[in-house]
Amino acid sequence: MAALQTAFAYVGIGVVAYYISLIITFIYDVFVRTGIKLEKFGAGKGAWAVVTGCTDGLGREAALELARKGFNMLLLSRSQEKLDSMAEEVRKLGVETRVLAVDFGKMTEDKWQQVGQEMQAVRVGVLMNNVGVSYDYPMHVEEVQEQTVNSLVELNMRAMIKMTQLVLPQMKERKSGLILNSGSFAALVPSPFLSIYSGTKGFVKYFSQSLAAEVAPYGVVVEHLQTYFVCSRMSKTRRPTFLIPMPKPYIKSVFAKIGVEGGSSEPYTSIPFFSHALMAFVSERIVPKQLAINYNHSLLSGLRKRALKKIQMQKEQN
Ligand SMILES: NC(=O)c1ccc[n+]([C@@H]2O[C@H](COP(=O)([O-])OP(=O)(O)OC[C@H]3O[C@@H](n4cnc5c(N)ncnc54)[C@H](OP(=O)(O)O)[C@@H]3O)[C@@H](O)[C@H]2O)c1
Repeated sequence: MAALQTAFAYVGIGVVAYYISLIITFIYDVFVRTGIKLEKFGAGKGAWAVVTGCTDGLGREAALELARKGFNMLLLSRSQEKLDSMAEEVRKLGVETRVLAVDFGKMTEDKWQQVGQEMQAVRVGVLMNNVGVSYDYPMHVEEVQEQTVNSLVELNMRAMIKMTQLVLPQMKERKSGLILNSGSFAALVPSPFLSIYSGTKGFVKYFSQSLAAEVAPYGVVVEHLQTYFVCSRMSKTRRPTFLIPMPKPYIKSVFAKIGVEGGSSEPYTSIPFFSHALMAFVSERIVPKQLAINYNHSLLSGLRKRALKKIQMQKEQN
């Protein structure tokens, strides 16, 4: 009996020590550890950064932050007008800027060739695969229109694959480069009523992690950036809260913590913003996955009901 009690005591001490070590690592990663310096990828030394979907939300802030850090910028997004005004803003930061209008939902071989030529013309130090779409509101999978399915596949997955294929040869040859892929908490906890979006972000996660290990021996860093809500047009949230920051502080945390897991327990993944990190820590290490999915189910079905009500009210007003 005494031996059994001792065994239980040792197991208890082991479990407590494990959780204490997790909490210490978490605090160190989120509040103390600094990431890989962007100079390593050529910031301020003539290298270029490429950002897709750069005229709004996270992409816009990322482009401005990379320019502030001294990268010349190649900006890819859909609307020429928005790109031109973005380029004007970026040039004021004292870096060279090129723009290319591309609709990633309607790409042709010729257009991909043009993107390839633009990228080959410069020394790309950073590629941020940021462009992405979600649904207008949470829906049952069979309600999602074909055009939306197409955009989800083309923007969230194919654009990332093709951009990566175009940039990797030069990064591998130089043995230097950073590829940052925009993922989501929809791949941390599966998201009912956003099944296709959640699935595409699951692709982003495994693609990024597989690629990261594949190209690490060539000196190329690939990071899966896992984001909870941030105020943007996509998230339909304008006012920041503790859990939902504005793009600027969020993006500052991203580039301050390259290569640092933050709240993530996954390899080659970063959850750099402290409130997102805390949320991930709780969802991944403490709450059983099924409970987390149930929570998402209730959250997203609530958002769905509210959206449907709003649509109904708009119909009645018209
Ligand atoms: N915001 C969040 O809460 C959140 C959470 C998790 C993950 N993410 C991920 O972060 C990324 C950026 O999200 P965001 O919230 O910043 O989005 P956003 O505010 O909607 O901005 C999207 C950007 O992509 C461009 N774009 C849209 N469709 C395009 C197309 N067909 N071809 C080329 N460019 C196109 C937009 O240009 P136009 O202005 O011309 O439309 C805009 O610059 C996405 O991959 C998203 O999944 C966001």
